[in-house]
Amino acid sequence: MKDLQFTRHRRLRNSDNIRSLVRETYLHKEDFIYPIFVVEGENIRNEVPSMPGVYHLSLDLLNAEMAEVSELGIKSVIVFGVPKEKDEVGTQAYHEHGIVQQAITQIKVHFPELVVIADTCLCQYTSHGHCGIVEEGRILNDPTLDLLARTAVSQARAGADIIAPSNMMDGFVAAIRAGLDENGFEDVPIMSYAVKYSSAFYGPFRDAAHSSPQFGDRKTYQMDPANRQEALREAESDMLEGADFLIVKPAMAYLDIIRDVKNNFNVPVVAYNVSGEYSMIKAAAMNGWINEREIVMEKLIGMKRAGVDLIITYYAKDVARWLDEK
Ligand code: PBG
Repeated sequence: MKDLQFTRHRRLRNSDNIRSLVRETYLHKEDFIYPIFVVEGENIRNEVPSMPGVYHLSLDLLNAEMAEVSELGIKSVIVFGVPKEKDEVGTQAYHEHGIVQQAITQIKVHFPELVVIADTCLCQYTSHGHCGIVEEGRILNDPTLDLLARTAVSQARAGADIIAPSNMMDGFVAAIRAGLDENGFEDVPIMSYAVKYSSAFYGPFRDAAHSSPQFGDRKTYQMDPANRQEALREAESDMLEGADFLIVKPAMAYLDIIRDVKNNFNVPVVAYNVSGEYSMIKAAAMNGWINEREIVMEKLIGMKRAGVDLIITYYAKDVARWLDEK
């Protein structure tokens, strides 16, 4: 045995303290963005069946929720609206007093320090559930851009700090940037869902947001999960159009894409840890099959290690609590 040559990696793992000295990646409360679903009506706090722990909230119960988020030290929320009325062109998405616009204003009045991000899309607001205008079964790109810009401007007017367009029409960043600038919102950043795959992991969200497409699928606008080079083309065009942040979505099955985007673009990169990723862990945890806390922390550290700066996750409140306990 005397002449064996090898490296003693275990030297740096010998105690808690030495392990923490050499730890390369950390999670901070500042890393997290918490998604919320707001609905019309009163005294509504309905749990989403496929997402235990996630609720539809009416505006009268919103302040209590935001107080909790804020006390936990979370700095930012992303707001999704689930309106009662839907139509062909998603009117409620850009209505001055739409549910999202009301929620944004209310949060900014009571919690001015919270960074409020508005998801800018049409699918929760259209009767057909698509993210664009539909004509004879086709999802039209250019006519949709105007509506997206209108939606973004209405959200900025309501007080949104950041606009996050998620609908994957070509040119949406250019259209929204122009709309914001023309209306005096040149300081409102765009967090673009630049790299958004057509994913089965959105299933529980579509239950939550009542936004499943009523015919066909989203494959003509969201990306094919098989493609890596295309992710860089999507990110590049959004950068040229003026994106301030780039989102990769989903996260867990796309860590290679996160790393590619981080290595190629010098803006903050965001992972959306989506609904299906949440529900899978939740279900296994509720069955007692896994250690929820350790699994969640491990997958989130994996995303940071892959290169993200920020993570949108339904686990944000739990993580904030777990970070406090440490
Ligand atoms: C709207 C939108 C979706 C999600 C966020 N914004 C759904 C979709 O594209 O069908 C998914 C979020 C999640 O699954 O947690 N376009």
